[in-house]
Amino acid sequence: MKQAVLVIIKPDGVLKGQVGTIFMKFAQIDLEMIALKIVRPTREKIEEHYRHLKGHKFYEDLISYFMGKYHNVHKLPAIIFYGEKAIQKCRKIAGKTNPEEANPGTIRGACGRITTKGIFENVVHVSSDKSEAKREIKLWFEPEEIPIPLYRSKVKKIDAYKKKVWA
Ligand code: CDP
Ligand code: MG
Repeated sequence: MKQAVLVIIKPDGVLKGQVGTIFMKFAQIDLEMIALKIVRPTREKIEEHYRHLKGHKFYEDLISYFMGKYHNVHKLPAIIFYGEKAIQKCRKIAGKTNPEEANPGTIRGACGRITTKGIFENVVHVSSDKSEAKREIKLWFEPEEIPIPLYRSKVKKIDAYKKKVWA
């Protein structure tokens, strides 16, 4: 059964110039890239993204980190990979959450660090399971941005809908 997984390159990965390396690592596994865009990590979005971690002692620092406050990076590449065991494959390439415990051959092991404040700067976000992937993908992507019918969608008529178009 094919599945989708969300990967977001975190601000430290962008600032350290690791975007290309990260793409190359993911390209080595047999998955399709089905969507790709730059997202703006607003507090609202990140709080929703990490809602299950609210209350942890690292939560506020994690929000600041993901918002780009420590790296002055506010545009993050977001990718959806699709294929057999996509989540397992991407999490293996990413490595363990704690970059010091991550294998040096993984993205987090090679490029991550623990700051003196104790924050895990671990370069990439990768969804942890199928239901989280679905929740996260729906949070960061619109149906029209994904060129396959990944999840159920509907056509909604919105009155007085305004859309930005090229001038
Ligand atoms: O990202 P992953 O799914 O591997 O781990 P998580 O448990 O979902 O935690 C989300 C993020 O919180 C991690 O990727 C770290 O950036 C951060 N974190 C941290 O700073 N300190 C911890 N003890 C645990 C997580
Ligand atoms: Mg997680």
